[in-house]
Amino acid sequence: MSTVEIPAGLKELLQGYTVEVLRRRPLNLAEFAVQHFTKILESQKKEPKAKKRNFKPSRKGVTFETKSNKDDEEHDEEEEEEEEEEDTISKYNRRVSVCAEAYNPDDDEDDDSEPRVVHPKTDVQRRRLQDACKDILLFKTLEPEQFSEVLDGMFEVLVKPQEHIIDQGDDGDNFYVIEKGVYDILVDKEGVNVCVGKYDNKGSFGELALMYNTPRAATIVATQEGALWGLDRATFHRLIVRNNAKKRRTYEAFIECVPLLKSLELSERMKIVDVLGARGFKDGERIITQGDDADCFYIVESGEVKIMIKSKTKAGQQDNTEVEVARCSRGQYFGELALVNNKPRAASVYAVGETKLLVIDIQAFERLLGPCMDIMKRNISQYEDQLVALFGSSVDLKH
Ligand code: CMP
Ligand code: CMP
Repeated sequence: MSTVEIPAGLKELLQGYTVEVLRRRPLNLAEFAVQHFTKILESQKKEPKAKKRNFKPSRKGVTFETKSNKDDEEHDEEEEEEEEEEDTISKYNRRVSVCAEAYNPDDDEDDDSEPRVVHPKTDVQRRRLQDACKDILLFKTLEPEQFSEVLDGMFEVLVKPQEHIIDQGDDGDNFYVIEKGVYDILVDKEGVNVCVGKYDNKGSFGELALMYNTPRAATIVATQEGALWGLDRATFHRLIVRNNAKKRRTYEAFIECVPLLKSLELSERMKIVDVLGARGFKDGERIITQGDDADCFYIVESGEVKIMIKSKTKAGQQDNTEVEVARCSRGQYFGELALVNNKPRAASVYAVGETKLLVIDIQAFERLLGPCMDIMKRNISQYEDQLVALFGSSVDLKH
């Protein structure tokens, strides 16, 4: 009988893959294998060690910041130490800059030894900060204690008209929550800066470079005086990125079963998980109000919602009685129509029983759900048919 020699490293490679499969429980093992081994290959190609990025927080709080420069310098050194540590992580686990799975928030999940940054605030400041942060999706899955630590770590930044808060291509320093002001989002397309959207007195930005260790993906410019709350990269990493490991474990299996997202790559679905927020609603609670401006998209995780439209009189005028047109349950989505058409909400939506929803903001919707647009547009035609059946006249929801 001839003996078969097992190539060196094969056992370790397969073991590594098996461990990742058990940890992440992907539905598509072959797709997951391609991504897992591509990641390893990329890490190997990057040897010797990739040049370390220089992450100095470029922006500090301008008011009420009580930490001394010395503290800041110490903090910078600590950050550098942290990065040196990251660079020594085994090549199979190290974050690389191009794909979402390359960062591994599980790595340091239980390491609580990093220093905590606290920027003291007055009661009034803390209330303003809490108000600015109450709808920030990235904070919606944090435990109360972690959320409180995030608030401790934030510092106020006042901005002037035309000030560039972030420049595309730069290294990531801080994450920002908007307290007030309007901010243009500019993306370089073939050498031309194109305005792809704006933040209007709410929302947050600057998470991508910190989550994935990539250069800034867009330029953010204040169009008027404004106020922001910044969170430094190290604290963002310690609290938000680490929480994303939990989020991935919690939502991965569910997100893989959402029919709308089936055509996306695993890495794209995980990017959705990284930025989504979770919100619970009580029976009868209104989630969307017909006629309101829209800034997010929803997927039902559990429970049910009913879609209600204000009925029309025979003369085609709207009266205030609402008629139920549809229901959505686990795995189904709603709230896309206003985002796709850039129009006010076409219907009101209410929870039926206790309902849990996953929420994605408009910027992430546009960035990550482009490949699902055809499916959504096809389904919008079905809404038109429903409305014709209900109200008799033909309806054009796309214009
Ligand atoms: P980051 O790449 O860290 O810095 C620029 C930020 O702009 C980015 O994180 C997002 O938070 C935000 N942003 C909003 N819209 C887009 C977009 N279409 N493409 C890339 N970034 C965007
Ligand atoms: P949007 O207009 O953003 O907010 C209300 C949502 O209800 C809408 O997106 C759709 O996702 C959903 N909806 C379901 N059925 C209909 C329908 N027949 N007409 C309009 N909206 C509908």
